[in-house]
Amino acid sequence: MAVVNVALAGRSYEVRVGRDLFDNFAGQVRPFLERYSADERSVPFVADSNARALFAETLEQSLSWVGLEIDWYEVTPGEGSKSWAELERLTDWLLARGVTRSDHVFALGGGVVGDLVGFACAILKRGCGFVQLPTTLLAQVDSSVGGKTAINASAGKNLIGAFHQPSLVLADTGCLATLPQRELRAGLAEVFKYGLLGDAEFFARVDKDSAAILACDNAVLEATIAHCVGMKARIVAEDERETRDARALLNLGHTFGHALEAETGFGDRLLHGEAVALGLVLAARFSARRDLISLADAENVTDALARAGLRTEISALGLDCDGTVLADHMRHDKKAGGGTVPFILLRALGEAYVARDVELADVAAFMDEQLQAH
Ligand code: GLY
Repeated sequence: MAVVNVALAGRSYEVRVGRDLFDNFAGQVRPFLERYSADERSVPFVADSNARALFAETLEQSLSWVGLEIDWYEVTPGEGSKSWAELERLTDWLLARGVTRSDHVFALGGGVVGDLVGFACAILKRGCGFVQLPTTLLAQVDSSVGGKTAINASAGKNLIGAFHQPSLVLADTGCLATLPQRELRAGLAEVFKYGLLGDAEFFARVDKDSAAILACDNAVLEATIAHCVGMKARIVAEDERETRDARALLNLGHTFGHALEAETGFGDRLLHGEAVALGLVLAARFSARRDLISLADAENVTDALARAGLRTEISALGLDCDGTVLADHMRHDKKAGGGTVPFILLRALGEAYVARDVELADVAAFMDEQLQAH
């Protein structure tokens, strides 16, 4: 098992990464069970129906050894669960259970469950504790760590939320073997992102290891996830609320990617990680267009993602729109402010920065080219 500490004054927590952590679940989370052990003997768990079906038995068995049961709250998999209606239903359930500010709620699943539960716990009685049990690669390397929690609004994704850090993240790498390859691959895009934004050597390593990651080789998975989480922990410790540029770098590929997700309806047609992969290619090519990196470097990014089986050409998405429509989605990105949209661009592979001088008209022209290319 690898342990990464997220160092935040008075709110530091561990991210534990390793296989079979759920087998000894009760031991791993002992401090967060105290009140349930002393009192009602059942522990509040929120899970999507897939994660519950896959992991309930292991978790229930581990808790049964310390005399506890799980009280399940189930949500439908997918972005649709990050809604006001689901938040209301969940907070009502937590209140009916009598959850107090010193209790912990357990969030089992991918980013949707983590974001929803984190936000519910941020506002429940002005804040109670929660433990993240991420079961997807994307959630293990990114969304479960760092305290960004949110639901979606009709105006856009993740627009209603709060910073609320978990008390512990247990990333059981064994969960990843249950994921469809498409979802695992989508998570790999976020792994590449870490290399591109700050560690060229890691980017090359992920390129070399992508087949082993997709085959769920545990040693490779553990080392890779711990590396990503280590990078994220350093960034979050430096810039928890994204008030400086450090945390914004984690949005590499996301402004382009969100526009593609918005255009494809935030659903199965294009998964978030798949959009991030395309966004990384676009960020690299746009950086080359501005002479920040060479065209050869931009194509290195494209080739590495393609070798991992990720789509790299937006022309193949069959979008029925032009570059202006996509640039317009970016204008509504929540990072936009004061009439400008900050873009995370590359000065080198492994060196990202926040560019605040990007004209959306330029982006629209670039996207038009990309929609027609290849
Ligand atoms: N997923 C980007 C962040 O946590 O800042």
